[in-house]
Amino acid sequence: MERLVEVEQISFEEIKDETTLRPSIWDEYIGQKKIKKNLQVFIEACKIREEVLDHILLFGPPGLGKTTLSHIIANQMKASMKVTAAPTIEKAGDLAAILTNLQEGDILFIDEIHRLSPAIEEILYPAMEDYRLDIIIGSGPAAQTVQIDLPKFTLIGATTRAGMISNPLRDRFGMHFRMNFYDTDELSQIVNIASNKLNKPTNENSSIEIARRSRGTPRVALRLLKRVRDFADVSGEDKIDLNRCQYALDELGVNDKGFDEMDIKLLELLLSNKGRPMGLSTIAAALSEDEGTIEEAIEPYLLANGYIERTARGRIASVKSYELFRLTPPTIQLEKNLFE
Ligand SMILES: Nc1ncnc2c1ncn2[C@@H]1O[C@H](COP(=O)(O)OP(=O)(O)O)[C@@H](O)[C@H]1O
Ligand SMILES: [Mg+2]
Repeated sequence: MERLVEVEQISFEEIKDETTLRPSIWDEYIGQKKIKKNLQVFIEACKIREEVLDHILLFGPPGLGKTTLSHIIANQMKASMKVTAAPTIEKAGDLAAILTNLQEGDILFIDEIHRLSPAIEEILYPAMEDYRLDIIIGSGPAAQTVQIDLPKFTLIGATTRAGMISNPLRDRFGMHFRMNFYDTDELSQIVNIASNKLNKPTNENSSIEIARRSRGTPRVALRLLKRVRDFADVSGEDKIDLNRCQYALDELGVNDKGFDEMDIKLLELLLSNKGRPMGLSTIAAALSEDEGTIEEAIEPYLLANGYIERTARGRIASVKSYELFRLTPPTIQLEKNLFE
């Protein structure tokens, strides 16, 4: 099933669109105020000292703007950025080739960095710390290590799984930033800017309507905007008004909490368990989804907004969810709330 609010799988079309809509300057990068302010200071300081920016690690669920932020950093540093993803770096030689092709001051962006194999991570350590590549030539007792100096570069690592980064790798990043979900006001600004770029302006009400249904995620907001635009196109309207917007979003099955079918299925599953925690593997089996998708793409929004809770023994629906579905919370849950 295609998931409108699915953020992990992105199509080729969408990658193309995202490139057009992707902001390249700070002014168009909405929200994440603290991260933005810190980065602006670091970047200015590096420029004054004519130094290379320290390595940066970005955490956060898909679609929250990690790749976009990296492009902006590169722009600000006037650096060129090489983009790669951990799963494509299979052999030591792949990484060595990438590293030796860098120029002084370049930015290397590695997406899904938690998926690097331990052997590849080992190569990255001296590269990050001392801009040095240790290559082992030959094998067995005759093996020799050859050291190659690398140009000074900045590594930006992005990951959806903070907990899956090994400590030694995490420690080698000078800066760590955790991306937050966006509020309605921020998302509505993003929708506004994008709709103007798409030549199909939204008014304030309609951009807020789209924002409210976007699970706190810019990628979802832009995807909904594009689908609503399709409806407006078919009806021959040159603006997107609230009515059209509500109609389109209802047709698309996106409710006003931003929940889609998968969120609702997950909530219903937990609600039906009556306060008993449910393990990740059970949830995955019941929803026919893989555990990674549930942990990285579905849960974070529900957790961040207090619809579900994670306990040592599994996930439970929160009192807020029971209320939303007009159900009476089980007593164990009420007690838990009383004691917290
Ligand atoms: N802070 C932001 N301001 C404006 N647009 C954003 C912002 N964050 C993300 N976007 C938009 O959302 C899309 C998805 O963001 P992206 O950087 O690809 O997310 P991630 O890399 O975290 O999965 C981008 O194409 C961009 O247009
Ligand atoms: Mg990305």
